[in-house]
Amino acid sequence: MNATSQAVKPRALEPDSLWEQLTGGLVRTRYRVQHDHLARSFSLLVDAWHHLMAPKLAGPPADQIELIERRFDALLEADLANVAQGYYPRELLLQLPLSQYLRCIPQVLLEAPRVLMRSQKNRYDELPEALDLSAYPRYYRRNFHWQTDGWLSDHSARMYDMAVEVLFAGTADIMRRMAIPPVIEATRTIERPRILDVACGTGRFLLQLQKALPNAKYFGLDLSPFYLRFASQQLRHVADLSLVSDNAEAMPFADASFDVVTTIFLFHELPRDARRNVAREMFRVLKPGGRLSFCDSAQRHESAEIGAYLERFATIYHEPYYKSYLKDTVEDLLREVGFEIESATAHLVSKVVVARRPE
Ligand SMILES: C[S@@+](CC[C@H](N)C(=O)[O-])C[C@H]1O[C@@H](n2cnc3c(N)ncnc32)[C@H](O)[C@@H]1O
Repeated sequence: MNATSQAVKPRALEPDSLWEQLTGGLVRTRYRVQHDHLARSFSLLVDAWHHLMAPKLAGPPADQIELIERRFDALLEADLANVAQGYYPRELLLQLPLSQYLRCIPQVLLEAPRVLMRSQKNRYDELPEALDLSAYPRYYRRNFHWQTDGWLSDHSARMYDMAVEVLFAGTADIMRRMAIPPVIEATRTIERPRILDVACGTGRFLLQLQKALPNAKYFGLDLSPFYLRFASQQLRHVADLSLVSDNAEAMPFADASFDVVTTIFLFHELPRDARRNVAREMFRVLKPGGRLSFCDSAQRHESAEIGAYLERFATIYHEPYYKSYLKDTVEDLLREVGFEIESATAHLVSKVVVARRPE
């Protein structure tokens, strides 16, 4: 894998007791078996779905599939290594709510013909009619990935986590977790860090981050009130959390008010200018010396060898800004607005960029 980095330094750990080594070994085995199975069964579903959506589209080149398999393996090992290094608790390895996801299956089957029809007729503007859409930017008013209601219903919010997990063959949460170690490193000396997750969606990242770092004051911002409503249920046990519905291009937060800003899977859904507006806002609300932990799709810059694999995503799904994102190197755009880049690391089909607002 072509990843750059000055990797985050793990803290020194005490050697594990025999009991811990034993339970750790069992968890490791269960985790590997679970993810190998999930990857195989979800990939079969996704391949069949892609065949229905784009029957004439050739499959990804064999050499790229091999590379993806190697990256998959490396991602699981990185996840296990993060636990071994104490960045997050072992329980996160086996936390996927699979029964909750399975309960969505009847709804998926019912909806599939409509989604297929929508994609074939290119009806990316089928949104709930009763809503006042003028409150949302133009680029946002669409059915990204052809999902029913776009970002704008409770139903969409309920289906989202399952759909993303299936699409990424069970690795969506793992890729999100790769953004946790930089947050832990950045907050080691801060007693009660203030952390903002931009475009927090249904809260999957915050849910995991707060298990790794319970003693923080958390904020989640998202433009969808429906996704935030779902997030507030998922995160109801988090003591110190504020969820705010607003546009990340003009955030309702004071300058220099956060120690860490995170953002996961947002930028590939923004047009070029909006990406810069959001990056500028993240810079503004960070304290000098504060860190950004950014995770989104891999890009051509560091992942050219799987370029054809990534481009297929924009061909099959409604992702109008994805191809321009692939070329718009995140490290450069963050530098443009004033950040210093500390590291950039590819993980399967994603990348994590750690950036610092200079003092
Ligand atoms: C692909 S989802 C990612 C959600 C979440 N971070 C995750 O890990 O699953 C993109 C999210 O970005 C939000 N979003 C898109 N444009 C936005 C904007 N301009 N301001 C705030 N949120 C936005 C959407 O509402 C949606 O929840």
